[in-house]
Amino acid sequence: MIQRCFQCDARYPLDEILYTCASCDGVLEIAVEAECLNRANLTGAGVWRYAPFLAVDAGDAVSLAEGDTGLHRCERLGKDLGIAELYVKNEGENPTGSFKDRGMTVGVTKAIQLGASAVACASTGNTSASMAAYGARAGLRTIVVLPGGKVAMGKVAQAVVHGAEIIQVEGNFDVAMKLVRELSLDSGEVYLLNSINPFRLEGQKTLAFEVCESLGRAPDAVVLPMGNAGNISAIWKGFREFKSAGFSQSLPRMFGAQAERAAPIVEHLGGTNESCRVEHPETVATAIRIGAPVNWTKAVTAVRDSGGRAGVVSDEEILRAQRDLARMEGRFVEPASAAPIAYLRKFGIEADTVVCVCTGHGLKDPDAILSSAPKLTQCQPTLGSIREALRL
Ligand code: F0G
Repeated sequence: MIQRCFQCDARYPLDEILYTCASCDGVLEIAVEAECLNRANLTGAGVWRYAPFLAVDAGDAVSLAEGDTGLHRCERLGKDLGIAELYVKNEGENPTGSFKDRGMTVGVTKAIQLGASAVACASTGNTSASMAAYGARAGLRTIVVLPGGKVAMGKVAQAVVHGAEIIQVEGNFDVAMKLVRELSLDSGEVYLLNSINPFRLEGQKTLAFEVCESLGRAPDAVVLPMGNAGNISAIWKGFREFKSAGFSQSLPRMFGAQAERAAPIVEHLGGTNESCRVEHPETVATAIRIGAPVNWTKAVTAVRDSGGRAGVVSDEEILRAQRDLARMEGRFVEPASAAPIAYLRKFGIEADTVVCVCTGHGLKDPDAILSSAPKLTQCQPTLGSIREALRL
């Protein structure tokens, strides 16, 4: 295995620390020769079951038992949306409550193997929560740069409890991302764990393997939210590698949902935003409040090559989808994670088997729900008063 530039195909050894290509500044990916892999070598559970596909030695893995999240059939919601077989891959079931744990177990293990003493990230919340937990487990210094005032409090609490050093900056995620990249390049000891790090994305691709193994085949379509666009890129890579290895027979179409006022990739695919940037992104789904996604070239390729599409959903549509999933299926996900459901309601998809990737747990961001909830009913502590209120 080797690191390869996604843009110009320049090659670098696995132990060279660089986050973009030294010659063209393109994003990097790990080249995996999946054709040589043997199914008998997939053993155990979770992310590390797929160690033969990962470019990081599993021997001393920093793990919190991540992966193996449920793939839940959603009959009622599926019927409501006109989809024959709808599934939710519920990434909120990971140790810190989001899909980031799949990437962090691999990224933090890599950091240890490289001899780093500190790890760092910019974050809309979940990356920092996950990095703080895995960094703590590994005994590393963890540095988190957050966009001031726009991160859900549940996620900040996670970074605090795990002992991260938290810096808030004035400005949005894109500003924080730029600064933390500079910090990592400046200091050889600080290892960057945003999704520009190709080893982290290797962990995230294992979601595709799990879906194929659970269904016994690849689904027809996969829908997910796009922010920095690492996850859609990683999952598409996973589906392709599983097929190359001969472990699945087909590929899904990849569908990406973005929030209305934070949709550079949708605009780019529609031909109206060549640089793939939005200056002042805004949305209730703060996890995907991102205007300059570092992995946009990979995401655009995933959507185009798979024959998928991308579309925008409004905050209102996102919150409705969050409620639908909670009330019809009993699953509470955070607003960004409901964007795929909102996408399905708005645009529909011609496909029988559809998997929505619900990226994070709802308890991380209860504010979005409570701010629009009706006031709680107040009663005297008597049966009569309660019956009256309930009209029972
Ligand atoms: N859903 C949730 C819950 C997220 O936290 C994120 C990204 C995404 C979707 C988008 O994934 O960036 O790979 O396209 N959160 C990052 C963070 C940016 O800092 O926690 P993506």
